[in-house]
Parts: sequence; C-alpha cells; structure tokens
Amino acid sequence: MTTDTATPDLSTAVEAAVEAYAGDPGFLIPMLQDLQADLGYVPAEAARHMADLLHVPLSQLYSVATFYKSLSLVPRGKHLITVCLGTVCYLKGAKEVAARIESQLEVGPRMTTKDGLFTFEPVNCLGMCGLAPVMVIDDDHFTEVRPGQVPDILARYSGKEN
Ligand code: FES
Repeated sequence: MTTDTATPDLSTAVEAAVEAYAGDPGFLIPMLQDLQADLGYVPAEAARHMADLLHVPLSQLYSVATFYKSLSLVPRGKHLITVCLGTVCYLKGAKEVAARIESQLEVGPRMTTKDGLFTFEPVNCLGMCGLAPVMVIDDDHFTEVRPGQVPDILARYSGKEN
C-alpha cells in the first residue's frame, strides 16, 4: 500500500521507473536516473512518491540524489555547463574560467540562468587532466580553455536551436 502524493504525470513517471527494476530499492540510483531522464530533474513530489513506493526513508533518497552530480533536484537549463575545478584544472586557471562564466551568465554554482538556457555545475576532475582546464557543455568538451574564450563558446549555445 502506498500513499498517492504525486500528480498523475509524476506518478506515472515514478511508477515506470520503479517497475523497471521490479521495485527493488537496491536499484535506487538507476531508478532516479530514469526518472531524471523522463522529467528532466527529480521533483520533490516525485521523490516522496518513490520513497513511499520503495518503503525507504525520504532522507535516503535525497542522500543519493544529492551525492550523484548527474541527478538534480531542481529543473536544469537547456544546456548544462560543467567546469572542472579539480586540482590540475584549478592550477591551470579553471577558477578564472568559472568566474567568467558566472559573471557573464549572472549565476552561481548549481544555478540556472533566468532565461532557462544554461545551468552551471562545477565538478571535481573529469579525467582529462592532461588537457586542463576542461569545460563541458552538454556532450561537447572544450580543453585548455582560457577565460577569454568563454564568451565565444557560450555564444555557440545561446543561438542554438534545439
Ligand atoms: S583535474 Fe580537471 S580533468 Fe582532472
């Protein structure tokens, strides 16, 4: 028996994610990933419904959702910008690249621009240290990035259709 706390669309998405793994809480991470793929993020209402269905504490679900950078509890922008702030990238100027992005887009870490176009998420080490500093937008990788390149890189996505 579960409590019906989510709206019909959210309920359907949550139930599909849970059923895909036979309701086994051991598959909480892929369930949340499926939910995120379906809804674009993990809404609080959906998280509560999933916790109810799986009989796991909501705190456990949030703990997983906040640990994994691929999961988001808030809606993300159309384009996800990731800048590595790992040690090598940091020493090679990633902090300045991140600062340029933040000032140009008027966002802080893990924030989305007012127009919903970009979400900015600093991370630690993308495994490409030899090409530091590294910046990723969606699936596009930019290496040895200098702060002065940021406006041109962002412009490619600002005018991008879909
Ligand atoms: S520290 Fe940036 S890719 Fe490893």
